[in-house]
Amino acid sequence: APSDPGLVERARAAKEKLGDKVFVLGHHYQRDEVIEFADVTGDSFKLARDAAARPDAEYIVFCGVHFMAESADILTGDDQQVILPDLAAGCSMADMATAEQVAECWDVLTEAGIAEQVVPVSYMNSSADIKAFTGKHGGTICTSSNAKRALDWAFEQGEKVLFLPDQHLGRNTAVRDMGMSLDDCVVYNPHKPNGGLTADELRAAKMILWRGHCSVHGRFSLDSVNDVRERIPGVNVLVHPECKHEVVAAADYVGSTEYIIKALEAAPRGSKWAIGTELNLVRRLANRFAAEDKEIVFLDKTVCFCSTMNRIDLPHLVWALESLASGKVVNRIQVDKETESFAKLALERMLALP
Ligand code: 13P
Ligand code: SF4
Repeated sequence: APSDPGLVERARAAKEKLGDKVFVLGHHYQRDEVIEFADVTGDSFKLARDAAARPDAEYIVFCGVHFMAESADILTGDDQQVILPDLAAGCSMADMATAEQVAECWDVLTEAGIAEQVVPVSYMNSSADIKAFTGKHGGTICTSSNAKRALDWAFEQGEKVLFLPDQHLGRNTAVRDMGMSLDDCVVYNPHKPNGGLTADELRAAKMILWRGHCSVHGRFSLDSVNDVRERIPGVNVLVHPECKHEVVAAADYVGSTEYIIKALEAAPRGSKWAIGTELNLVRRLANRFAAEDKEIVFLDKTVCFCSTMNRIDLPHLVWALESLASGKVVNRIQVDKETESFAKLALERMLALP
C-alpha cells in the first residue's frame, strides 16, 4: 500500500529539522516506506561500518533489528545515541543462543578437553552478550559477506570452530567455500544434555555448529528450487547463505543481500532470476529491474516477510524522528560497558579481516 502522505511529510520535516544531528541507516529488508528515509542502506556488514563512520551524528536511527542497533552502539562513540524505532524488532535467530546456554556449551567443550583448540566465530545475528563471549574467548564476528574470511582467520588461530548461532551459514561456508565435508560438522543442540553430542563426536569435529536458524530463510526448500527451474527455463537461482544446505547446494549463486543486489545490477538484460531471501528486498529488486527487462521472482511464494524487520514502519520512524526533533530521546539501545568492551574486541577483529 502507498504510504500515508501526511506521515511522509512529517518524516521529511522532522528529518530536516534534525539535519546532520541524525543519521538514518536502513537494512535491505526494510519496507520501502522506511528505505525512502535512509541516508544509507546496506547489508549487516556495510551498516556496521557505516554506523562507525559517522562520529559527528548525535543520533543514529537504526532501521533494522535489535542486534544491528546493539552492534552500532558498540562501534560508535559514547556520546552518540543509537535509536531502534520499535523495540520489538528482534531476531528469532539471535534469540536462539543465550549467554547461559553458550557458557554451558563452553563447559561441555572444556569437559571434552577441546576448549583450548576451539575458536568461536559468531554471526552478526547474535546478542551483544554472545559477541562479548566471542571476544573473551579469542574469536571473531562474521557476516554473510565475510564468513569465509572469518573462518580462514579462525582456523589459523585454532583447530576447531564453534560457529554461533546460524548452523546453515556455518555449514554452507565450511562445505561450499572451504572444501570441508558434511562429516566435519556436528550440531550442538543447547536443549539437550551435552548438546546431544558425545565427547568423541566433539573431538572428531572441525566445525561445531550451534543449532540455530533463520525462520524466514529456513523455509525455502529444495522443492522450491526444482519447481522454479521447471516453471522458468534458464532461470538463475540466487539465495542467501542462511538457507538450508540442500537449497544452497542446488542454487547457482549464493551471497549476502549486498551481493544479491550487485549480482542483479550486473545481470544481462533479458535474464531471469529466482531469489531466495526476504520479500521486501525481492519485491524492490523486481520493481527496480523490470525496466531493464530482467525478470525477478521470489523463490517460494509461500515464504513471507521477516515479521520483526517489518515492525519498523513509517509510523514508528516518524515517532522516533519527531521525538528526537523535539529533544526527547526514545528507544535508545545501550550496551553495558563490560559487555561492550569484549564485544567490541570481536567486532574489531571482523573489521580487521583481510
Ligand atoms: P545480510 O544483509 O548481511 O546479508 O544479512 C541478512 C540478514 O538476515 C540480516 O538479518
Ligand atoms: Fe533474523 Fe532471519 Fe529476520 Fe534476518 S531475516 S532478522 S536472520 S529472522
